[in-house]
Amino acid sequence: MAKLAVPPLFSLRHFLVLSLALNVSLILRTAYYESGEGSKGFCLKKKMMVDVDSDVIDKSRLAISSSTSSLVNSTRSAGRERVINLDHGDPTMYERFWREMGDKTTITIPGWQSLSYLSDVSNICWFLEPEFAREVVRLHKVVGNAVTEGRHIVVGTGSSQLILAALYALSSPDAAEPISVVSAAPYYSSYPSMADYQKSGLYKWAGDAETFDKEGPYIELVTSPNNPDGYRRQAMVNRSQGLLIHDLAYYWPQYTPISSPSDHDLTLFTVSKSTGHAGTRIGWALVKDEEVVKKMTKFIELNTIGVSRDSQFRASKVLKAVSDSCEQENSQDEESFFKYSYKIMAQRWKQLRAVVDAGDMFSLPQFSPAFCIFFGHETEPQPGFIWLKCEGDIEDCESFLRGHKIITRSGKHFGASPKYVRISMLDTDGTFLQLIDRLSAIQERE
Ligand SMILES: Cc1ncc(COP(=O)(O)O)c(C=O)c1O
Repeated sequence: MAKLAVPPLFSLRHFLVLSLALNVSLILRTAYYESGEGSKGFCLKKKMMVDVDSDVIDKSRLAISSSTSSLVNSTRSAGRERVINLDHGDPTMYERFWREMGDKTTITIPGWQSLSYLSDVSNICWFLEPEFAREVVRLHKVVGNAVTEGRHIVVGTGSSQLILAALYALSSPDAAEPISVVSAAPYYSSYPSMADYQKSGLYKWAGDAETFDKEGPYIELVTSPNNPDGYRRQAMVNRSQGLLIHDLAYYWPQYTPISSPSDHDLTLFTVSKSTGHAGTRIGWALVKDEEVVKKMTKFIELNTIGVSRDSQFRASKVLKAVSDSCEQENSQDEESFFKYSYKIMAQRWKQLRAVVDAGDMFSLPQFSPAFCIFFGHETEPQPGFIWLKCEGDIEDCESFLRGHKIITRSGKHFGASPKYVRISMLDTDGTFLQLIDRLSAIQERE
């Protein structure tokens, strides 16, 4: 391995500043992870992820003695110079869990394996790995979030490819005009460009489902819980010629109470948001109608001649580890993936609400708890995104936060007002803490 070059001008002053920054970071991390009884280190034993009862920033402030506070403040302000980019929903927050899983999710693929394009020629979706299909069905059974009986599975290169495959499959080549594609605002910001970027003659973005009043066939994308605002959703237009795509990327127990198994004609899921393996690029569709399955398969065949078999092996291994962790939770002293991820999301939302409620510059959506069949008790929705509103006379929340070096996505990309922004909650602990610290500082200052 190449050695890291030491900069020649590495002075004592640099060393002291670096050492101070590392110490502060250590104090922040220690306060964050060890704020509950008996929690030492980062392992996933049951006692390790105890709830944090008070705001982490307050704890970190208490942990820093007054004699060092001016130095710490200057370091913190230096930290505030760093731009934090929370525009994308890059789900890196589960990394620690997967590190702790070790070899349970390691795969070795010898050079001679998966040379063929074909996975299973007896299946309509001939590029679907049987092992992956088995693990999808098993996980939905374990979690209780989707009916799989009477459904075909279509695998895709992320659910992004499946959204396009579904639009292709649900539209008709013989129609006089492109079929309208709608979704209720605020909608996932990629839908309009996904529908329109190729200027297809088959389908066309027609905007907010709530104001859609055109007669005739249409496709509605129903995202539940919704990206960006986290609310549970049902179809909005409800007319006889409507074709529905249910995008349930976030219908997992860490984000929302699982009230019942979803039971729709065409439902999409992805490992990106369920387990955090966005880079594996694997999603799956549960589809009732065989003709739709054939057309989606054809689309993916024309697009990429199937879906990476290596990625499907990896995804199978990851889904298996998640199901195993749920089934073994009671017999072994370990937390299931969902319990672990639920607790992190709960901590983050608690800290976020505490910071937002401490001033009157921002507001957040409010959610009601509901019974979750997976956990067997009531849980709170805790979305993967913050749908933050700038109150008062700040009209452009995205520019305002950019001025504080927080990069977010403006509400206007979601068909909503620029008073709103979407901020990812799925980033690393360090970036999340920086966000909390910065929002707190903005409220203190303004
Ligand atoms: C609602 C929704 N659908 C689909 C996707 C795409 O996910 P994938 O990574 O599987 O392509 C995302 C990603 O952010 C999403 O939020």
